[in-house]
Amino acid sequence: MNAPDLSVELCGLTLRNPVLAASGTFGYGLEFEHMVDLETLGGFVVKGLSREPIEGNRAPRLWEAEAGMLNSVGLQNVGVHAFVRDKLPVLRGWRTPVFVNVFGFAAEDYCEVVRVLDAAEGIAGYELNVSCPNTQHGGIFFSNDLPALSELVAAVRRLTRRPLWVKLSPNVAQIEPAALAAQEGGADAVSLVNTFIALAIDAKTRRPRIANGFGGLSGPAIKPIALRMVYQAARALRIPVIGLGGIASGEDAAEFLIAGARAVQVGTASFWDPGATGRVARELAGFLSRQKIPRVTDLVGTLRMP
Ligand SMILES: Cc1cc2nc3c(=O)[nH]c(=O)nc-3n(C[C@H](O)[C@H](O)[C@H](O)COP(=O)(O)O)c2cc1C
Repeated sequence: MNAPDLSVELCGLTLRNPVLAASGTFGYGLEFEHMVDLETLGGFVVKGLSREPIEGNRAPRLWEAEAGMLNSVGLQNVGVHAFVRDKLPVLRGWRTPVFVNVFGFAAEDYCEVVRVLDAAEGIAGYELNVSCPNTQHGGIFFSNDLPALSELVAAVRRLTRRPLWVKLSPNVAQIEPAALAAQEGGADAVSLVNTFIALAIDAKTRRPRIANGFGGLSGPAIKPIALRMVYQAARALRIPVIGLGGIASGEDAAEFLIAGARAVQVGTASFWDPGATGRVARELAGFLSRQKIPRVTDLVGTLRMP
């Protein structure tokens, strides 16, 4: 059999493969330039950007748990203006699509960041991180307030023609209502999952392992829950789902595609293997060859659920 076709169409873009690096785990891409052949990636999502720079939470901000990691980095970032001025000119030279993760604490924050980004060349699309407290609605997360979520997406939708993804929080009883609210607001795709709110404790000191108390759990521990949510969201939506949560191998990626994801992202695995995203894409190609599957798209949504 010829080499399998890994290319995918996603929101009007053709990606060389469906494996992207996830936001917050791949910096601004530039940090990985000397370690990773960026042209092995389907694309990457940069660290979440806000209107103004944010310093982040105090240390310790990371804790290695049994089968994953807790983090409470606190959305540290350089701010949208410094990104456009200092990082984007370099990223623009690469032949790998750059998606920008955006967050805020009110709808207007998201809108302002997207306005600034939309005036700049070299961005393939946006991913809105809606796992943030909405300070104008008593701090309730956008992802848990469906009318606010839909309005937020609609407000950003009016500002841009670029692909607009909405990254959903898994910290909800049911994922379908949030996924549908994002679709209704005009999202082109949803990505899921973000991290699970968690707590690690040092029994000797009786203190949390993370300075701020709670952290977001990511890595292999969350993969089965993420797969379940991707499956449920993909069944409920017309728009594509981008799946992530604990992906560390080509076969993990295949599982997400089979569950219904059109593309996948690799996050925490980059912490122990900076080349993980490219490796996952290579391993996915190997899996397809061994299974005699000609196109990666042949896997999408093929779960044989009883
Ligand atoms: C240190 C760290 C920082 C992260 N920062 C962001 C972020 O800025 N925006 C975002 O949407 N997700 C962020 N995430 C979530 C990841 O992109 C991903 O959704 C999550 O970790 C699950 O995937 P994984 O198990 O492959 O890591 C971050 C995750 C980690 C571990």
